[in-house]
Amino acid sequence: MKVLAVGGGGREHAAVEALYRSGAEIYSVMKNANPGIMARSKKTLLCSEKDLDKVCAFAKENGVELAYIGPEAPLEVGIVDALEAVGVKCAAPTKAAARIETSKTFMRELVDKYKIKGNLGFAHFDNAKDAEAYLKTIDHEIVVKPVGLTGGKGVKVQGEHLHNFEETMDYVNEIFDANIGGAGVILEEKAVGEEFTQMAFVDGKKVVPMPLVQDHKRAYEGDVGPNTGGMGSYSDADHLLPFITESERKDAIAIIQSVIDAMAEEGCPYRGPIYGQFMLTVNGPKIIEFNARFGDPEAMNVLTALESSFQDICWQMATGTLTEDVKFFDKATVCKYIVPKGYGVKSESGHEITVDEDGIRKSGAVIYYANVDQKDGKLVTGTSRSIGIVGVGKDLEEAEQNCEKALQFVKCDAIFLRHDIGTRALVQKRVDHMKELRSA
Ligand code: AMP
Ligand code: GLY
Repeated sequence: MKVLAVGGGGREHAAVEALYRSGAEIYSVMKNANPGIMARSKKTLLCSEKDLDKVCAFAKENGVELAYIGPEAPLEVGIVDALEAVGVKCAAPTKAAARIETSKTFMRELVDKYKIKGNLGFAHFDNAKDAEAYLKTIDHEIVVKPVGLTGGKGVKVQGEHLHNFEETMDYVNEIFDANIGGAGVILEEKAVGEEFTQMAFVDGKKVVPMPLVQDHKRAYEGDVGPNTGGMGSYSDADHLLPFITESERKDAIAIIQSVIDAMAEEGCPYRGPIYGQFMLTVNGPKIIEFNARFGDPEAMNVLTALESSFQDICWQMATGTLTEDVKFFDKATVCKYIVPKGYGVKSESGHEITVDEDGIRKSGAVIYYANVDQKDGKLVTGTSRSIGIVGVGKDLEEAEQNCEKALQFVKCDAIFLRHDIGTRALVQKRVDHMKELRSA
């Protein structure tokens, strides 16, 4: 089948590999020349992923039947509505359905209205003065979030990034002054526990879960530093995570099903992969956010482990015909993202990066190119995450070691990464943290 794939990051490269494996003929659209995606594409259009006229013309011209959309930015401007209007089926949500991600207020209010479990206390503000008055009335720690999209970098947490009332108000003022996210501020109750990602395939009604993944949002080793889009992630061979029980996982899946039911009820049924990010607390999973797409890096874990045909799953999501018959290999995966120097604060870009793909493959790992570009025959870094390396193994230890072996085959003098992701020590720290909370 002819499939349009939109986006040029690591998540999209992983999706394109999975589509290619399942026999798709790929037509890609992206703003950077991602060599991994281009190698699998019959044709590539380099342009803004939000340029709907160009994207639709390219799809029509090439007789594309199905579209996969990776990033949130084109979803927010209605790429699905536009493609459907020209007869292309989409394994992704409409503009209205994508509000589950594009408006944090929409999400919290929906969960509130339908009395879905896992919500956190929240309040939305369109000016700093009201936010300040509210802040003076509460006696628990909070999290400050711009309401709109910020590429995963807009959230600041009291006790971690914000240490007192003044710092909190400074950030609230900054969001309004610089119009970060473009839609005001949401102040949320802070949840304490261990974070996990539960993603699922959705066809408007039916929810088919993927293996659990844990992402690492903080920029530096030891979980410190600014929030990023995600520095790396792991998934285990049993598709659970070492600190969560089967019943807690079921609770998270039930929350996602309730959200999908609520969206159908609201007249904006949700189709496509959905991303649920939860904090596992002593009172069960609490909703941190939903994304209208795969997580990045999490997509690289689950799509590497996907055994079933991704093309079939996309078609089924797009046409409301999803079945339970989705299989993943019983393999553990550890993904570490190589990012440009300064990433999370102010990235340096344009540095040459060299890759020995054969060496990576022989190490038991997979490479996914992300925000890199090709200039004068050389591969160069962009300002966002550069390359994801996914080690695969029978257990986490083997997957982590394979990832480390493979990392030696990528060279650049202006990058960094978190070597601690997926290591026994860090995973144990998560297990101990949860144990400590449960026994307190
Ligand atoms: P988000 O972009 O909403 O995923 O937030 C980025 C990170 O901030 C999350 O991965 C969490 O570590 C943290 N965070 C967001 N919301 C909350 C919350 N309500 N309670 C505790 N931590 C949060
Ligand atoms: N890894 C978090 C995200 O994709 O938003």
